[in-house]
Amino acid sequence: MGDLLVVNIGELVTPRGSGPLRGPAMSELLRIRDAYVEIREGKIAAVGPTGKAPRDFSGEVLDAGGRVVTPGLVDPHTHLVFAGSRVEEYLRRARGERYTGGGILVTAEATRKASEEELVELSLSRLRKMLRCGVTTVEAKSGYGLAPEAELKILRTIKRLGEIVPQRLVPTFLGAHAFPPDYGREEYIELIVGEMIPHVAREGLARFCDVFCDKGFYTVDEARRILEEGRRHGLVPKLHADELACVGAAELAGEVGAVSADHLLHVSDPGIMAMAEAGTVAVLLPGTAFVIDEPYPPARKLVEAGVPVALSTDFNPGSSPVLSLPFVMRLGVLKLKLSPEECLCAATLNAAAAVGLAGEVGSLEPGKSGDLVIWDLKDWRELFYWFGDDLAFRVAIGGEVVWASP
Ligand code: NIG
Ligand code: FE
Repeated sequence: MGDLLVVNIGELVTPRGSGPLRGPAMSELLRIRDAYVEIREGKIAAVGPTGKAPRDFSGEVLDAGGRVVTPGLVDPHTHLVFAGSRVEEYLRRARGERYTGGGILVTAEATRKASEEELVELSLSRLRKMLRCGVTTVEAKSGYGLAPEAELKILRTIKRLGEIVPQRLVPTFLGAHAFPPDYGREEYIELIVGEMIPHVAREGLARFCDVFCDKGFYTVDEARRILEEGRRHGLVPKLHADELACVGAAELAGEVGAVSADHLLHVSDPGIMAMAEAGTVAVLLPGTAFVIDEPYPPARKLVEAGVPVALSTDFNPGSSPVLSLPFVMRLGVLKLKLSPEECLCAATLNAAAAVGLAGEVGSLEPGKSGDLVIWDLKDWRELFYWFGDDLAFRVAIGGEVVWASP
């Protein structure tokens, strides 16, 4: 945990708060020209105009050279740990085949065969690439094991990764990602609620419980049962909701008080209302709509209905082989019609809220973790403009510089 003083910041841009922001509040960013950030023992001590910076700082001093600084980005929905690739399926889809989610079982087969060591190696390289894109907190789901031991192997991999990488990892149990061919439907659900959830909770391997509630996957009733059982064991509910069809998953998210409902390409109006009432964060994944070539989720409608909106990559080998959260933020502006202000909030503070960490990360404010990105830009809005320019100039986590562009 470092002491770090960042000076000569051309413009500092950050949302403010310790919970998710909704509606017009998503656009109310703090912007300071010619700014500094002071980090003491890993936590932000002060943020302000250069004139007020401390003169007798004893730790490392970093000159931002007039560049832009934002909070570290938070990616609140990834399927980080898997083996194999689905490039064949991807190319078939590029030629017109429709995405159905069936390929999940192909990845599960490859992932079951991989050892924990192999999965750690594969995921480490992915996390390194994410770090260079300015991503300092990453949610990671299981879900390509689809059997007790294989699901535990993935969650233990995430735990080990968390001990190795500089980023903060947030583990989610997604045993209910598909129905594996080696169990009957009822049998597998019994295994999830009777064996897997209690074991995951006992070993402290996950913070959230997620279910793929959609056409051809888990029904609303099945998802409700799994999420309630998860909650009884201390796992907070999350949902893959209404991605392939409108099945009422967003309504369920509101009903069970899920921390987030993700995807929402086909969300209904009552579903939006239920989420707004419950304060459920909508995690939008436009990289997925881009890759599977489906209509984008109704982001403006969600913001205007008062649902807090977050953005994420959904990084996975099927529907979103997308590691770059900055790329997704550009889709947020270009395809979801969110403003740069809304997108920055969605990929920082609201993303943090979607993983229960809005009190610790997601904004540059005293008391929060010293996680920040220096972008090689003079105008912060260009973060949403230069496609392909994903590399951060510097990334700090807990006041330690953990990535520097060559
Ligand atoms: O979030 N929708 C369900 N799960 C993933 C895709 C998984 C896959 O195709 O391997 C998603 O898009
Ligand atoms: Fe997903």
